[in-house]
Amino acid sequence: MSDNISASLDRNQTLLQAAALAEHLARSGVHWTPRPNLQNVAHLKDRFTVVATPAVVAAGLSPEMREPESPTQQPASPSIPQLKPLTQTPLAHSSSKYQGSSLGIAERKSRLSILQSEVAQCTKCPELVRCREHTVFGEGNPQARFMFFGEAPGADEDHSGRPFVGKAGQLLTKMIEACKLSREEVYIFNTIKCRPPNNRNPEPDEVANCRTYFEQQIQLIRPEYIVCLGAVSSQALLDNKLSVGRLRGSFHRYFDSKVLVTYHPSYLLRTPAAKKAAWEDLQLMMRDAGLR
Ligand code: URA
Repeated sequence: MSDNISASLDRNQTLLQAAALAEHLARSGVHWTPRPNLQNVAHLKDRFTVVATPAVVAAGLSPEMREPESPTQQPASPSIPQLKPLTQTPLAHSSSKYQGSSLGIAERKSRLSILQSEVAQCTKCPELVRCREHTVFGEGNPQARFMFFGEAPGADEDHSGRPFVGKAGQLLTKMIEACKLSREEVYIFNTIKCRPPNNRNPEPDEVANCRTYFEQQIQLIRPEYIVCLGAVSSQALLDNKLSVGRLRGSFHRYFDSKVLVTYHPSYLLRTPAAKKAAWEDLQLMMRDAGLR
């Protein structure tokens, strides 16, 4: 590729990132944004370019830092997957914008808190109500640019009432930090809000009962990106039965949020070889978001 073409692609990518950021600020209730200035954006983008931070290495995600798994394995490619086009499906949530206007932070906090109280009193799934110690609503920044969407609380989460605080949660925290983000600046929540007995998968009627809660959380926050961790959350959000393997590696849409599907941290704990793919997914998002 000639230098001119690659400079122009880079410039377009930068402008797209600036436009996406301005859109995100508008969705977050910021109604004044500066005109995107290419030089400033490019300067900021350069400041955010890091390949393997200590957090990446700590999460065991960096392909460059891992031992090859077998003598025949190819060395990890330093190249980053290119953006693929958003999947176009005829579902309403894949083509339309969030309804109504975006709320300011105080109103978001208040509505999330009302919804949290509603969830705490929910009795729609008798089996889950009998077993639960706490409902686990979700937590984080009500103006998050990134939402991380899990499956269901486990024992530690049920006990504390907070999402992703057990072993899988520790890995998720490392994954978030590897993206140069913190738990406080993102929003973390689950598809269902009560722990299924013996950590079984949520039943379809349980997902259906919780749909109104997770959809309202997303609708209030309107993030730029939703990261679906595992098949339960991706199938619930995208309304399909496809595997993570089929859905990962490109962006999907939920209203005007981009949806990235990747492996659940619990699966990564059981299958460390899948960490490379998960890290590629996160890098795809970071690159799209201008975080690297
Ligand atoms: N697994 C999940 O999907 N969610 C949690 O909150 C914890 C573990």
